[in-house]
Amino acid sequence: MTALVNKSSSTPTDVVIMAAGKGTRMKSSLPKVLHRLGGHALLGHVLDCAAGLSARRVVVITGHGAIEVEAACTRFQGFSGTSQTPLDIQFARQEPQLGTGHAVQQAVPLLADDGVTLVLSGDVPLTQTATLQALMGQCDGQRLALLTLSMPDPTGYGRIVRSGPGASAQVRAIVEHKDASDAQRQIHEIYSGIMAVPTALLRRWLARLDNHNAQNEYYLTDIVKFAVADGVAVVAHQITDAAQVAGVNSPVQLAELERAYQQRRAVALMEQGVRLADPARFDVRGTLICGQDVEIDVNCLFEGVVTLGNGVRVGANCVIANCTIAANAVIHPFTHIDGEKLGVEVGEGALVGPFARLRPGAQLGAEVHIGNFVEVKNSTLAKGAKANHLAYLGDATVGERVNYGAGSITANYDGANKHRTVIGDDVHIGSNCVLVAPITIGAGGTVGGGTTLAKSTEPGGLHVARAKQISLPNWKRPVKAKK
Ligand code: UD1
Ligand code: MG
Repeated sequence: MTALVNKSSSTPTDVVIMAAGKGTRMKSSLPKVLHRLGGHALLGHVLDCAAGLSARRVVVITGHGAIEVEAACTRFQGFSGTSQTPLDIQFARQEPQLGTGHAVQQAVPLLADDGVTLVLSGDVPLTQTATLQALMGQCDGQRLALLTLSMPDPTGYGRIVRSGPGASAQVRAIVEHKDASDAQRQIHEIYSGIMAVPTALLRRWLARLDNHNAQNEYYLTDIVKFAVADGVAVVAHQITDAAQVAGVNSPVQLAELERAYQQRRAVALMEQGVRLADPARFDVRGTLICGQDVEIDVNCLFEGVVTLGNGVRVGANCVIANCTIAANAVIHPFTHIDGEKLGVEVGEGALVGPFARLRPGAQLGAEVHIGNFVEVKNSTLAKGAKANHLAYLGDATVGERVNYGAGSITANYDGANKHRTVIGDDVHIGSNCVLVAPITIGAGGTVGGGTTLAKSTEPGGLHVARAKQISLPNWKRPVKAKK
């Protein structure tokens, strides 16, 4: 359409993620970048962001806990629905760790000179893809672009030193806090740790680094002064959203960022029309897809991939994982659902809970009722089936309109193998029955309360297996002997 081609859009993007640091302040045996935020490893968030940029290649610099970190990257498959293309991830080991410049030096042999390198940190999880795209736009395949932020308390951060006051003044250098003069420490604009730089220039500048500074480290940030000396333009892309550049160094910061993340997820859902009783008491660790007119009460936790259809209502204090809930179903308070790998399906208009438990492979048809203290595992319940109180259905196929009485269970496990129970349409299972699998109960049959049923039954009829009732009218209850 236009004759002007934005150079940045034609320049391949390669991403370098620094993830070699120890994370001492986490006081954990788990490498810092593998701690979880919103149910995903910190590094997973950064990889997902890279996937959103359609990066040509991602080089992860590992050191501390390298084997674990590399294995986690290899398993990374993108957060559901966000990344389209699989990432080409390579690793560069940095041992020992001599600073951020030294870290990137380990990665450059894996990078091609025709690209732009975007440097990210594995412990900065909430940067948005659009922010990085804007930074890449500022770089435009030829400039050094720095992501910066003005902070009320910039202590500890590298400062953006300009040739004069104001954001239009030229960027001259980044000075680390420990190396900064008193005057430089008054600067509020800080370097976020994220930059975009033409790879050929990066390679040249990294070769010139030294460690003559307060920390005796090779600072990546020193390349800014080389760019200035070489007459290459340096641009600062300043944002105002601090959470996007916030790093995790301690459990306190991790918890703070988790809240910021959950707040964002909650707001995004409410903007789609989801009604959250309280966005501060709501957690998603994974993907939550909601239809129209979904209502979620307080203290609910969603994990893995959960889909809620139109008009679904979720009561307070539910934990719901790996599950699809069809339109107008109601999940009453304190229900626990986890489909794990098999998934759980709740049919249209079904009622579940309070205090119900749906385990992997539970498939509830339309208008099924699962009441309090009922556990369902690897079982299919057809339309209109009900198990309302204190029951267990494991490895069962339950027909339409079946009524499964209070206290009844499938004895599906013989100590070695699992067996199926098949219950035909319109069967009525009384209270406190034990159905010893494998067993089939024919359609329309009734099983009397208290029955232990070990043999399959033909359709219809009443099936009872229990001791015959006897009554002893003159029987006397024992009394305590008098002393
Ligand atoms: C760095 C920047 C600073 C910026 C700040 C933003 C430098 C010299 N300074 O400082 O200007 O304001 O980030 O948070 O770059 N890492 C390695 N190998 C190393 C050292 C670090 O992989 O040898 C990794 C760390 O694991 C971390 C990232 O690089 O993911 C940043 O390192 P860190 O030590 O936190 O740098 P800062 O001192 O915070
Ligand atoms: Mg840091």
